[in-house]
Amino acid sequence: MITFMLNGQEKTFDGDPDTPLLWVIRDFEKLTGTKYGCGVAQCGACTVHLDGMTRRSCITPISTVEGSEVITIEGVAGTEAEAVRAAWVAIDVPQCGYCQSGQIMSAVSLLQATPKPTDDEIDGAMAGNICRCATYQRIRQAIHNAADTLEG
Ligand code: FES
Ligand code: FES
Repeated sequence: MITFMLNGQEKTFDGDPDTPLLWVIRDFEKLTGTKYGCGVAQCGACTVHLDGMTRRSCITPISTVEGSEVITIEGVAGTEAEAVRAAWVAIDVPQCGYCQSGQIMSAVSLLQATPKPTDDEIDGAMAGNICRCATYQRIRQAIHNAADTLEG
């Protein structure tokens, strides 16, 4: 039995300890905002926060999450998350939207660590999040706008 926190609630998982965290989130907990893209840590669609750091949930066995705090797009909160959400909406960042949960989770994590990131810092932090619709310019702009909001 594996016990962990998911968006502030204690959860238990009783299945195969090798089950990826992404499966547990989507199939057992029915939180479908976190997406399955590649399954091999190459696209970032499955990004969540694990104990405050970004984590690719597709390659994270649930056994390694014992006692940890997992935050998904449904539960991410706080000033950085609010600023990112508002900035995303204001300039209409998503196209198809599939990658965007992962993009937002990475952007929030970046701003929590680096409140005023440069273009290079944004590109570095977001490099693992692929967008097949190529919304990269809007993502970068939205992160700058969110940072301005936080600063103000
Ligand atoms: S689905 Fe996890 S990184 Fe692509
Ligand atoms: S908005 Fe379509 S993949 Fe990023």
